[in-house]
Amino acid sequence: MKILVTGGAGFIGSHTSVELLKAGYEIVIVDNYSNSSPDVIDKIKKITGKDFKNYELDVCDKDSLEKVFEENQIDGVIHFAGFKAVGESSKNPVMYYRNNIDSTLTLLEVMKQHNCKKFVFSSSACVYGNTSDGKCCEDSPLAPTNPYGETKLVSEFILKDLYKSDNSWGIVILRYFNPIGAHESGLIGENPKDIPNNLMPYIVRVASKEYDMLHIFGNDYKTIDGTGVRDYIHVVDLSIGHIKALEKLNKENGLFTYNLGTGHGVSVLELVNTFSKVNNVEVKYEFTARRLGDVDINYADVTKAYNELGFKATKTIEDMCRDSYNYVLKNKSN
Ligand code: WQD
Repeated sequence: MKILVTGGAGFIGSHTSVELLKAGYEIVIVDNYSNSSPDVIDKIKKITGKDFKNYELDVCDKDSLEKVFEENQIDGVIHFAGFKAVGESSKNPVMYYRNNIDSTLTLLEVMKQHNCKKFVFSSSACVYGNTSDGKCCEDSPLAPTNPYGETKLVSEFILKDLYKSDNSWGIVILRYFNPIGAHESGLIGENPKDIPNNLMPYIVRVASKEYDMLHIFGNDYKTIDGTGVRDYIHVVDLSIGHIKALEKLNKENGLFTYNLGTGHGVSVLELVNTFSKVNNVEVKYEFTARRLGDVDINYADVTKAYNELGFKATKTIEDMCRDSYNYVLKNKSN
């Protein structure tokens, strides 16, 4: 089977491409490198020893996308390409709606024209609102608190209506919690182009002395130590979740939605202290004001993914901390 991976040079896209090739799939990567680097393509080839075609393009560009489908027999698509910075989405919502919705609509149109109807969608825990105890089930209320999360929810509505109109589609919506970590080789990992919005990429830059201090956004939340609690999942476990989703679609058509997390919450301070201990490195921090839109606690109910996909995250928070730092140390010179 040949799978098109949009955003395949990105953090989760590149790790999923590695797992697809390891699992025996053929892949084609498309990416516009707006938040990734072209050199990731060769690193995926180096890790797997496999070759594949890749195209530099914007998924919103229908003509370029059609060319990919004309030149390759695409059997399914995993759609990662999209903007994903929560803070930036509040500052520039129109750019987020244009890019994230337009890319999904364009892709679905071209897929339909080429009778390609297996689709795995990169959604986010951001579609959930504040649940009473922070635990998110797939049928929990959906109330995003930022435009990024709204674009993911609107895309989910599009997919639900598409399936209602034509049940020959096979669609899996995967809601990611907090992906961190890196491939054990240290060749690929999370390397945002600008100042990181997310916690782990910021921690590693403080540890490697690129930044002098981590600002912990609030220590008065109703949590074990007052800092925010999240469900961190190793990016390799998350990537394997996509293989499980494709296996589901190889058995049956339908529309399926799953949380991808570990089912456990970890606080900011717990993550910082684990990172320092595992890597034997200091991470200086100070407490500052809360960040707008943050919730106290957010973690996944992972029952459905286990029961229906046979998916269970295996890597520990120590693995995530070790692999995140290993990636930075291996690429510091670059
Ligand atoms: C985690 C915790 C912050 C940075 C977002 C998206 C979500 C997903 C993951 C894409 C919170 C605290 C953070 C910092 C801090 N991305 N923090 N100082 O907000 O849970 O989720 O990224 O799908 O969709 O919403 O992740 O890493 O930004 O924050 O104290 O410099 O770390 O307050 O408690 P978040 P995060």
